[in-house]
Amino acid sequence: MTIRAVARGVGHYLPDRIVPNSEFEKTLDTTDEWIRSRSGIERRHFAAEGQTTSDLGARAAQAALDDAGLLAQDIDAIVVATSTPDYTFPSVATMVQEKLGMINGFAFDVQAVCAGFVFALANANGMILSGQAKRVMVIGAETFSRIMDWTDRSTCVLFGDGAGALILEAQEQPGTPADRGILSVDLHSDGRYRDLLYVDGGVSTNGLAGHLRMQGNQVFRQAVEKLAETAHVALDKAGLTADQVDWVVPHQANIRIIEGTAKRMGVPMDHVVVTVQDHGNTSAASIPLALSVGKARGQIKTGDLLVTEAIGGGLAWGSVVIRW
Ligand code: UT7
Repeated sequence: MTIRAVARGVGHYLPDRIVPNSEFEKTLDTTDEWIRSRSGIERRHFAAEGQTTSDLGARAAQAALDDAGLLAQDIDAIVVATSTPDYTFPSVATMVQEKLGMINGFAFDVQAVCAGFVFALANANGMILSGQAKRVMVIGAETFSRIMDWTDRSTCVLFGDGAGALILEAQEQPGTPADRGILSVDLHSDGRYRDLLYVDGGVSTNGLAGHLRMQGNQVFRQAVEKLAETAHVALDKAGLTADQVDWVVPHQANIRIIEGTAKRMGVPMDHVVVTVQDHGNTSAASIPLALSVGKARGQIKTGDLLVTEAIGGGLAWGSVVIRW
């Protein structure tokens, strides 16, 4: 027998305000047609004034607790993946902890931009395998609408706000590739690509929150190759192959990246969970949102083999293989 970090509950929260592509036609030299055909995005949610990342994260966390039939005090640790925190500090995770009424355990943030949820999952898995925690709430929560340059049509039409949460629980499993839980992890970063995707502000540079800057087509070029490669490596580490995958649950940045990666992996698109049309790119929130929506749609079922993969600023990228 071996300990695995098994999915116990999942949930998400999207702010009420839905913004269709047509809204951008009023203020920018862009069209619904361009945004749809180049990115696959049709609409996105934006947080209300005063609604913060920890508000979104706490709502998603509560939904995951409800799904699991657990209470906040049943959780040992909260890990929040975010690049858009409420404050420079304290962490969003401790603010979520307070909003859930949880006074035990510990909480901290992880920052790996769009790959943040994959890095947070890897971290939570490590804490569970080492015996540090039995149940970990892993949250991806973002308010990217707060760091958009609304005059830059090449970026501001792509991103959205939202949060998703997954509760991982230590469970004994037989110790084979057929186990439930996290089966393998593959992480990478390469800081030489910093200028492809960054925010032009920060505490120790100019004291500003800054705006997102991206050389989209350069990131695109890196994405398909690196995502297919990391997914392949993670499957290999787990002793599994792409034809055994029930669902690829990719970071939702661009439908063309999602399709290109699936093609390289040899996984047909009817085995890929796609939410980019409804959410846009929600950075670290996109994978847990897709997990929660995929489960609610009846796509993801207990026992299914999932591969999550993501790439973002850094560049940082990676994948996690998990049997649901
Ligand atoms: O989540 C983190 C990782 N981020 C990503 O994965 C994003 C990766 N990149 C992408 O998704 C795509 O590169 C974009 C959707 C951002 C852009 O698509 P593209 O096919 O790579 O287009 P492009 O950047 O090469 O731009 C093509 C043209 C340009 O015009 P010219 O120079 O050909 O005349 C742009 O100025 O499209 C123009 N353009 C727009 N036109 C209408 C850029 N943004 C817009 C816009 N509306 N919103």
